[in-house]
Amino acid sequence: MTGLATPWSTTLGLGVPIVAAPMGGVAGGRFAHAVSRAGALGLIGMGSAGSAAKLSAQLVEFESASRTEADASAEASALPFGIGLVHWGLDRDPELLDTALAAHPRLVSIGFAEDFAWVDRVHAVGALAATQVYTPAEAVQAADASVDVVVARGSEGGGHGDPRMGTLSLLDAVLDAIGGRATVLAAGGVSSGRSLAAVLAAGADGAWVGTALMASPEALTPDSARPVLLAATGDDTVNTSAADAALGLPWPERFPERVVRNAFVEEWADRVDELRGSGDELDGFRAEFTAANSAGDHRLVPVDAGEGVGLLRAVRPVGEILDEFARDASALLGRWR
Ligand SMILES: Cc1cc2nc3c(=O)[nH]c(=O)nc-3n(C[C@H](O)[C@H](O)[C@H](O)COP(=O)(O)O)c2cc1C
Repeated sequence: MTGLATPWSTTLGLGVPIVAAPMGGVAGGRFAHAVSRAGALGLIGMGSAGSAAKLSAQLVEFESASRTEADASAEASALPFGIGLVHWGLDRDPELLDTALAAHPRLVSIGFAEDFAWVDRVHAVGALAATQVYTPAEAVQAADASVDVVVARGSEGGGHGDPRMGTLSLLDAVLDAIGGRATVLAAGGVSSGRSLAAVLAAGADGAWVGTALMASPEALTPDSARPVLLAATGDDTVNTSAADAALGLPWPERFPERVVRNAFVEEWADRVDELRGSGDELDGFRAEFTAANSAGDHRLVPVDAGEGVGLLRAVRPVGEILDEFARDASALLGRWR
């Protein structure tokens, strides 16, 4: 790993100033372990379907990846990790947050947060509290609530988010609003050493990276999704709530998800309200869609990905991708020394 560090990543003992996004259905224990092993901070992600049981299973995966390492050492078994949860899903399983806090994570991210009552509980176990924000005003609210790590997440990003501002202008505004009061990470389209260098040069303490790591073998990404990711270009992606409507998921309307466009998206992206309607034909279609989702049939169900998806050209291990991020960003930033 090249010596690419910010004061924040150094404080955390990271070799590269990257936090891997807590991608539901992608960022399991093995993935988080590979990220942390490579010198960044790996997060286990529980999406809106998360539960205490599912989190416990991924914590076991993290542990066993630590134990089975050929070069298992005290250092390897003590790798830091974090956990990411979805705020509006917490009521469904009150034990989920308890389980997360009991696991001794270095950082707990609660995304799509409607309030900050959870921050004190995260601090009580000695972990850093993180959340994603979409406007400078939200960044101020988060900093006022003592959130330690504020992730400025631009509309380029994959998965769910409020697509209000592009990453660089949001980062700029968030740094202006709260720089120095909280750690600020940049998210959304940071998919190479180039974009990592850009956000670090702009003053971010690090980057929060999702899409660029999705196709790695350590991720829980279904095999059926990898060819979609490798074939897509950034202009193939779109923000839509169509799949959530078809699955009957109660995602707040302000959080559509960025997905790779397919025939379903072409047909329904502008007719989401219709998809939420009732009738035998719609019920039948929603049942078919739900079954396709369980089966990982991406001819029908779109794959989440951000605009950086066009840079994914091969299935590569997490460590190789993160090494390249650090090496390329270092080389670019070094040109200005
Ligand atoms: C497949 C996928 C699943 C995601 N799931 C979650 C999630 O469960 N919780 C969350 O806070 N963010 C989730 N996100 C959003 C990420 O935290 C982050 O905002 C995004 O990946 C950053 O943009 P990028 O994908 O361009 O790197 C997800 C993103 C992707 C691509």
